[in-house]
Amino acid sequence: MSHTDRSELMDKIVSLCKRRGFIFQDSEIYGGQNGFWDYGPLGTELKRNVRDAWWQDMISRHDPLDAPEGAPAAFQMVGVETTIIMNPQVWKCSGHYDLFVDKMVDCKVAKKRYRHDHVNGRWIIGKRKSKEGETDPVRVFVTAVGEMPEITAQALAFFGLKKKYADRLEWEGEVISLTEIPVEEYSSVVGPDATEAGTLTEPRDFNLMFKTIIGALGTEDDTAYLRPETAQGIFVNFKNVVDSSRVKLPLGICQVGKSFRNEITPRNFTFRSREFEQMEIEFFCTPSESQEWYTYWRNRRYAWYIGLGIDKENLILREHHPEELAHYSCGTADIEYAFPFLSKGEYGELEGVAHRGDFDLRSHMEGKLKIGDDGELEVELNEHGQPKYRGSGKDLSYFDDQTRERFIPHVIEPSAGADRATLAFICEAYYEDEAPDDKGNMKTRVVMKFHPRIAPIKAAVFPLVKKDGHPEKAKEVYRSLKAAGINVAYDAQGAIGRRYRRQDEIGTPWCITIDGDTIENGTVTIRDRDSLEQVKVKVEDVTAEIQRRLNE
Ligand code: GAP
Repeated sequence: MSHTDRSELMDKIVSLCKRRGFIFQDSEIYGGQNGFWDYGPLGTELKRNVRDAWWQDMISRHDPLDAPEGAPAAFQMVGVETTIIMNPQVWKCSGHYDLFVDKMVDCKVAKKRYRHDHVNGRWIIGKRKSKEGETDPVRVFVTAVGEMPEITAQALAFFGLKKKYADRLEWEGEVISLTEIPVEEYSSVVGPDATEAGTLTEPRDFNLMFKTIIGALGTEDDTAYLRPETAQGIFVNFKNVVDSSRVKLPLGICQVGKSFRNEITPRNFTFRSREFEQMEIEFFCTPSESQEWYTYWRNRRYAWYIGLGIDKENLILREHHPEELAHYSCGTADIEYAFPFLSKGEYGELEGVAHRGDFDLRSHMEGKLKIGDDGELEVELNEHGQPKYRGSGKDLSYFDDQTRERFIPHVIEPSAGADRATLAFICEAYYEDEAPDDKGNMKTRVVMKFHPRIAPIKAAVFPLVKKDGHPEKAKEVYRSLKAAGINVAYDAQGAIGRRYRRQDEIGTPWCITIDGDTIENGTVTIRDRDSLEQVKVKVEDVTAEIQRRLNE
């Protein structure tokens, strides 16, 4: 698929999401807000199913009595639900207060702000054309938040050329990131929305945490932050969980919840949002077994996406290079998906699986840590030789009553985004094929091939006609499915082919039609969304049959 095909595909997906009520721009009637998204009725069901699948697979269906396949030992998994606004000291000790920053550049003229590493560009030489004539050749670095198509568009605008002259542009070198251009050369940089060169500021740090104020006084001392990750709520409760829940290591503590990051350039639909949901596991184990657990979780989390319908072709496990790792970590891998808004061969992060050593528990005990001159972690000190940010002073170590040893557990952290996973499932599900319409003519059909476990609606019930006892029987079937807790739709409007297509487009796996045969012989037709196969099933068996298929 070419770049244009991929971006066309993305446009189709975004438009389907809006048209069928999966995802809307937040506060749309007021013009929306960049980086915030609302889920409509179908999107809400879909995302809830993604979260439920994660919670069931990681926690409620987890068997702590035996080691699952590939795991070094049996282990426990429990959940917590912690607050979005935490004691600000948490963020000082975790490092987010000082270090959770992105570099940004501002455009003084366009009054826009960009993430430094999101701006790409290419050197080019050309004469600028305007009503006044042509300038001498200038050499500039033309940029865009994007790749070659966007950079070309900006170059054409800068040189005053029509689109048809794109092949006359005299490029130098390849597309590179703005981060590779020294600040001394910024006078030659044409910003992504600029009409002249030299309007970008030097890169500056920008903390991504949203600030808020606690209480009525509203002084600086009352400043608090919306959590940028759910993980810290787990670390600060480690001791509470261990002391209260009769759990032993190895132990996973899990949390699903909203996180907030004031992203400089939110983009690519819901992929990079300012408010989003995370599904995080902090897995505590002995230091000596941590490498094995890291490998286990990396493989298991990759397999989770495949099990819910992501094609292996579109999903990679990217191990970070050893030089990218913090010294206390023996591994970090990203699970990445080939989102259609990226060029072919590029992948976007769905989940990070990180070996975090004892960094987090120690930081909350001792104060913010930094890597010392000897390469070891040490408490960061202020100018008075005191800890820069004091830890809780609480003992967060763990006592193993079998080995009689006390130690600070090591942590493996599989950290997934619920919105990114939902978006990947949407992109993966989008499919166009040919299917016969009501007159038997082959027509393009849009079908969302969601795995039945996450499909927003599991089945739709259609009375063939609005008479002859069909609606009565159809309502019986519909209510029996509803009573079994299956999310089911009822549709009596329009030709049967049109009804199939409406359900295909939202990914309903099975359509159940009540017709003359139902009245005469007590059978209904179940039609499969993907194979288009139709089978007859007895009315009284429909609910059990749909349940059986859902559990397959
Ligand atoms: N506790 C570790 C942590 O938060 P992260 O890689 O920054 O690690 C984990 O985030 C996951 O959260 C990402 O893999 C992604 O799925 C999701 N995520 C992070 N930032 C996001 C954003 N701005 N919009 C949507 N999802 C985001």
